[in-house]
Amino acid sequence: MRVGVIGTGHVGLITCATLAKVGHHVTGSDTDEEKIALLQGGTPPFYEPGLSELVAEQLSSGRLAFTAEIAEAVTDAAMIFISVGTPPRASGEANLLAVEQSATEVARHAQGRCVVVEKSTVPTGTARRLRMAIQRTRPEDIKRFEVASNPEFLREGKAIDDAMEPERILVGADSEWAFQAMREVYDHWIRQGCRYIETDLATAELAKHASNGFLALKISYINALARLCERANADVTKVAEAMRSDSRIGEYFLDAGLGYGGSCFPKDLQAFSHLARQLGYDFSLLDEITKINNEAVEATLDKILDALWNLEDKRIALIGLSFKPETDDVRFAPALTIAKRLVEQGATVVGYDPQAGRTAKAELPEIEIAPNPYEAAEHAHCLVLCTEWEEFRNLDLKKLREIMEYPVVVDGRNAFDPDEMERLGFSIYPMGRPPRLASEEGRTPH
Ligand code: UGA
Repeated sequence: MRVGVIGTGHVGLITCATLAKVGHHVTGSDTDEEKIALLQGGTPPFYEPGLSELVAEQLSSGRLAFTAEIAEAVTDAAMIFISVGTPPRASGEANLLAVEQSATEVARHAQGRCVVVEKSTVPTGTARRLRMAIQRTRPEDIKRFEVASNPEFLREGKAIDDAMEPERILVGADSEWAFQAMREVYDHWIRQGCRYIETDLATAELAKHASNGFLALKISYINALARLCERANADVTKVAEAMRSDSRIGEYFLDAGLGYGGSCFPKDLQAFSHLARQLGYDFSLLDEITKINNEAVEATLDKILDALWNLEDKRIALIGLSFKPETDDVRFAPALTIAKRLVEQGATVVGYDPQAGRTAKAELPEIEIAPNPYEAAEHAHCLVLCTEWEEFRNLDLKKLREIMEYPVVVDGRNAFDPDEMERLGFSIYPMGRPPRLASEEGRTPH
């Protein structure tokens, strides 16, 4: 099938590459000409494991192309995915201007019968608006256009695996023709037996916000328990272990730490809460999830202050700057919120991240970026682990202990073994677990 994709961010670009991989002819478009130039040369504008290789492979197969001219992507397409950004407005509501503009452009340029698919996360009710925008631009031809909702459930850092082996594909539409076209585009996965759910438009739209809200709820639930454990001298990782073994609760998303960040949960929770209010329902649980998430950052800052007393003359190393491992995305990254607050209080902040050094520096120029974790930690009075990249599990802790000014580690992701850290002479402050203070540190004289 000939497919057009509008917006080549994390969702759009993965959609382009994976649909091309299964045999469709895909043209991705973006208004950012620099991004398109990079993509035409085979370079993704952000880091995602395996994506460079996949884009290069599909470009050379001839099934994938990129253009800065939206018309080129949509003219002959039988299906057009809209995967543009939906950033939050000050009120928390999603800003859907780019979605409306995309719909108008599609209406202007599409020549044949086509399905316009919402791939970006949008509030329920957007499909109706999308159809209105198309109708206003092309009233005489509205019957040629179908609208569908097909929310994306992929995770950054695991996006290609999630797209190639999804746990479910969700499609909302209101005509058999649209359902049929969607089945055709997803035929590869349907034949593999992937769970394929068809429903109406409003339900599909709502299900995406519902999933992200619930996942964020699990994280905030365990983080609230972490605050409780800190007060009760209990260990949240053991509490989580006990909970996980109950299959009704489930294995995942019970890691206490610095909380969630990224371009999805923080914005989606706000947008979902706003939508609920608009629909006349006070879904205050969603606001509580956000509040608990913010508390996780505050708790971490409190630990740093507790360990260091005054910050003005202190050097603090942050290792891991992206909002989670395996991405260079720093949007709503807890590490950067912490860095900002430390800088405001007069500390010198040196960061290291395997991929996100450049993006972090662009977001917060006050932070120094080190080329490796050891240079970040050299002469530091405290090291804060903010993102649990795999490479941090193999750090030479003895060396770290030797080069740091004070042996203080705040473990924002419970990635270090407190017993080992204590043995090596560190004072370690984990999340939701009792701190271990090195023998001379914090000793109350008798
Ligand atoms: C999330 C959802 O997981 C995807 O299903 C969804 O498609 C995507 O949003 C989206 O709406 O586009 P993503 O933001 O890439 O994906 O990352 P996650 O793996 O969900 O992690 C989100 C945040 O939660 C990270 O900051 C992570 O560190 C944090 N987290 C995750 C925890 O703090 N504890 C956990 O137990 C799990």
